[in-house]
Amino acid sequence: MCGIFGYVNFLVDKSRGEIIDNLIEGLQRLEYRGYDSAGLAVDGKLIKDGDEEIMNNIIVKTPGKVKVLKQKVIDDKINRTDIFDNHAGIAHTRWATHGQPKEENCHPHRSDSTKGEFIVVHNGIITNFSALRKYLLSKGHIFESETDTECIAKLFKHFYDLNLKAGVSPDLNELTKQVLHELEGSYGLLVKSYHYPGEVCGTRKGSPLLVGVKTDKKLKVDFVDVEFENNAAQQQQQQANGHSSLLNNHSTSLDSGFIPVAPGEQNLRTSQSRAFLSEDDLPMPVEFFLSSDPASVIQHTKKVLFLEDDDIAHIYDGELHIHRASTKSAGESTVRPIQTLEMELNEIMKGPYKHFMQKEIFEQPDSTFNTMRGRIDFENSIVTLGGLKAFLPTIRRCRRIIMIACGTSYHSCLATRSIFEELTEIPVSVELASDFLDRRSPVFRDDTCVFVSQSGETADSILALQYCLERGALTVGIVNSVGSSMSRQTHCGVHINAGPEIGVASTKAYTSQYIALVMFALSLSNDSISKTKRHEEIIKGLQKIPEQIKKVLNLETKIKKLCNDDLNDQKSLLLLGRGYQFATALEGALKIKEISYMHSEGVLAGELKHGVLALVDDKLPIIAFATRDSLFPKTMSAIEQVTARDGRPIVICNEGDAIISNDKVHLTLEVPQTVDCLQGLLNVIPVQLISYWLAVNRGIDVDFPRNLAKSVTVE
Ligand code: UD1
Ligand code: F6R
Repeated sequence: MCGIFGYVNFLVDKSRGEIIDNLIEGLQRLEYRGYDSAGLAVDGKLIKDGDEEIMNNIIVKTPGKVKVLKQKVIDDKINRTDIFDNHAGIAHTRWATHGQPKEENCHPHRSDSTKGEFIVVHNGIITNFSALRKYLLSKGHIFESETDTECIAKLFKHFYDLNLKAGVSPDLNELTKQVLHELEGSYGLLVKSYHYPGEVCGTRKGSPLLVGVKTDKKLKVDFVDVEFENNAAQQQQQQANGHSSLLNNHSTSLDSGFIPVAPGEQNLRTSQSRAFLSEDDLPMPVEFFLSSDPASVIQHTKKVLFLEDDDIAHIYDGELHIHRASTKSAGESTVRPIQTLEMELNEIMKGPYKHFMQKEIFEQPDSTFNTMRGRIDFENSIVTLGGLKAFLPTIRRCRRIIMIACGTSYHSCLATRSIFEELTEIPVSVELASDFLDRRSPVFRDDTCVFVSQSGETADSILALQYCLERGALTVGIVNSVGSSMSRQTHCGVHINAGPEIGVASTKAYTSQYIALVMFALSLSNDSISKTKRHEEIIKGLQKIPEQIKKVLNLETKIKKLCNDDLNDQKSLLLLGRGYQFATALEGALKIKEISYMHSEGVLAGELKHGVLALVDDKLPIIAFATRDSLFPKTMSAIEQVTARDGRPIVICNEGDAIISNDKVHLTLEVPQTVDCLQGLLNVIPVQLISYWLAVNRGIDVDFPRNLAKSVTVE
């Protein structure tokens, strides 16, 4: 996802060129996370502003890779030679969520286009940004981008001016608190301003941020005190901004009701950061590296401090102060340790995981949650997909829905087709993009064509999209990459918000596409009274999915052993499923063959007796999906057909399902039960893990299997 990097030098002379190089190198270390644009901000020159002298800013940003940014710095002929003994620079790699990846949407964002008083980089999502934007627009702020982040920069200026009007010149930390009070959602962010030269504030909520520290001398202590406000000041601040936030007030009353930073508090700079003082308690030369990821800090220093949610790291005069944006609760830690990173770079990038694929499999509790975030009101069982809202009446009237995709994305369409038809009562066909084009299948103006793609760049799917556009059909995208060709070329759609998928094998995109399609079907049938109960049941089920996925992931040890002991030497594998689980069988087979190179085939359990049964003996490994739904008895009968021929299937069943644990079954993998149409979200996880461990056992480079590319941009 997005990446943040900041660099502050104090009593260490650095040229602008060196500072920019540092920032760019920091961003390069974040590249592996996936992004679509990059940018940085450094100090410019002192210029006259009325009677005052201010330091102007240099912001360079661009869509594309960090190397494009590097080139842009050269093309812009930015002076590299000016020397700074104290400077704060900030930088960012962006993975688009609000608005396309184009220059105006890249970070850093500024509070105003004239002087750029406050400059911000931000990871995460500000969920109340529309309301904030509206408010700030009403106050005369002019927006330059479509991003949520820009609101943050504007808020800084807004509060700064209000404080000044009240005769107070606020501390950057106090100002940050006032801004944070208005934000809902998640963030890791850095702010710099010419009003505070050489200073930076970094803060986080739900999005990681750490501070690396580099000094020549040993640090005096290996922790930093957390600075809590005294109660009186805190209460005053809360009254000022806590109980009357901008948006609660909703009007101009902020200006009248605003209470500035308490005068006693302003510029009160207690030196609790003993860590950054030399033996004689004088400031010492120091460099700070702020980042969302230790991968970009480790080449500079191994000494890092991880911020906690609501921490504000305020760096100035060579010191690091940790303040709290929320009130102190009982038992809360009063220090943040400065830790020594013992990890290697490679380990950091993949966290505790050996491969991106494994990391992405384990990310699914979060990625599935992110797909639903802000879109499902679980209390009232309402689904709102912002990108489809205006198109729902047209789609409801369409003659049929055609889902078009390739590979794993095609399987997510198959997995949800049945619930789509059940809820919408519109006929749905599911097409492989290449076959759909080969047949030159008829498409009409009253068709709705749904294109599902992780990358949004798959050539076959794009050609099919163009084909449908030419024929006047309504096109809908279900896409992960914001700003991708398919996301741009479809009339409307849903971003699945799973975050970048780096491993070639698609895992977390599948579960997120699945959920996005279910949400699509739910929103199409929102107003159908006869479907209310079913809606509620599905929405309740969706709410539990992230937690249930966590449970399924606990099967990893058992699966590892299964792959080691039983499957490793096999040449072929069958996966049996029917109804909702046919798609899971196909998806499992695709994962296994593409990653482990073992031949595997997904078979509709009902088709077994029509030919495939001839393969069954006591040697061929078979995985059967036998979770509880209306087809369970039929699946059981397929399992019996297998066991009657000495086959000993591995059965994926619901927790505690004793019926299946007979001695003819080789092994059961038990997963929690959910609503029938969502069960595939849980059943697919064990097969993702099987494919992964089979591949690892065979020494295959899981993230880069032979002959395959992440984005298939050729026909
Ligand atoms: C949008 C924001 C999201 C924010 C939310 C709050 C973007 C990209 N998303 O999300 O960050 O939290 O508003 O109001 O700015 N689209 C297509 N084809 C596709 C996918 C999407 O045309 O394949 C279009 C949609 O119709 C929509 C836009 O892209 O107009 C954004 O889609 P999506 O991110 O799904 O919208 P929201 O969930 O509303
Ligand atoms: C399998 C896989 C591929 C893709 C297919 C479509 O693990 O990754 O089958 O699903 O190439 O790609 P997108 O979804 O990017 O259109």
